[in-house]
Amino acid sequence: MKGIILAGGSGTRLHPLTLATSKQLLPIGDKPMIYYPLSVLMLADIRDILIISTPADLPQFQRLFGDGSDYGIHLTYREQPEPNGIAEALLIGAAHIGDDPVALVLGDNIYHGPSLYRILADARAALDGCVLFGYRVGDPSRYAVGETDSAGRLLSVEEKPAHPRSNLALTGLYLYDGTAVDLAKNLRPSARGELEITDLNRRYVESGRAHLVNLGRGFAWLDAGTPESLLQAGHYVHTLQERQGIRIACIEEIALRMGFITGAQCHRLGARIAHSSYGRYVMAVAEELTTAAATAASTAV
Ligand code: G1P
Repeated sequence: MKGIILAGGSGTRLHPLTLATSKQLLPIGDKPMIYYPLSVLMLADIRDILIISTPADLPQFQRLFGDGSDYGIHLTYREQPEPNGIAEALLIGAAHIGDDPVALVLGDNIYHGPSLYRILADARAALDGCVLFGYRVGDPSRYAVGETDSAGRLLSVEEKPAHPRSNLALTGLYLYDGTAVDLAKNLRPSARGELEITDLNRRYVESGRAHLVNLGRGFAWLDAGTPESLLQAGHYVHTLQERQGIRIACIEEIALRMGFITGAQCHRLGARIAHSSYGRYVMAVAEELTTAAATAASTAV
């Protein structure tokens, strides 16, 4: 399965914060926002990932991650010159996707929950058509909203409805089978001039092949498109990290735990930024996991 992170847009709701930088590079807690969606794809065991952003912002992402080999993944980059809609990511990424299934994630969506790894593995294994991820919110009109039958099959999807049929927001993570690019090619711009991801999802709904995974209570799904939500997400991450002494969306740790890199490689990544507590955490995790593996190996002998 291929991955795409859409990190475009002009972030107008965050001006002046985003006048000179990309929204998806703004800090959430102790790391840039894009670390969060990237960690979701890595947890889904996806290693071939395309990052899409504006011509002005794309070089910044390249500077941040390079070709991804530090993290044991393969990153490529493509421009979205105009904010023509989320579904355009599938057209821009057509060559990257080929005939493979694809996971598309929005660069400002933050997912955190204890069983995320398992949820993603199960969703990938069951993929037939598309899998969308729903989350109960108090203000569904701000999002796409879905309605399901008791088996989790989606019956309808609506983009920012004035009168939502449910409280179930459709979050910014989409798993598609190998037909998504062809379906996206047949989309027409909406009234606001965008290729809407909800129109693509509706095609899957109409063919009875759109499934919903409800992330449920106890899970955190946050977006960070306004000053308030940016601050809320930062507080959430900071509170949990301080309390538990762990890091959320630490891509070096995830790369190590997923087996993408070795303990020594992970340690070097931390050592590069050892002046920050983030860097020291990465080094500590590398030492801890390497010791644990060595202990397990020696007791096994
Ligand atoms: C976009 C999508 C919407 C989705 C949301 C999730 O909305 O159009 O369907 O529910 O992301 O974050 P936007 O945030 O661009 O208004």
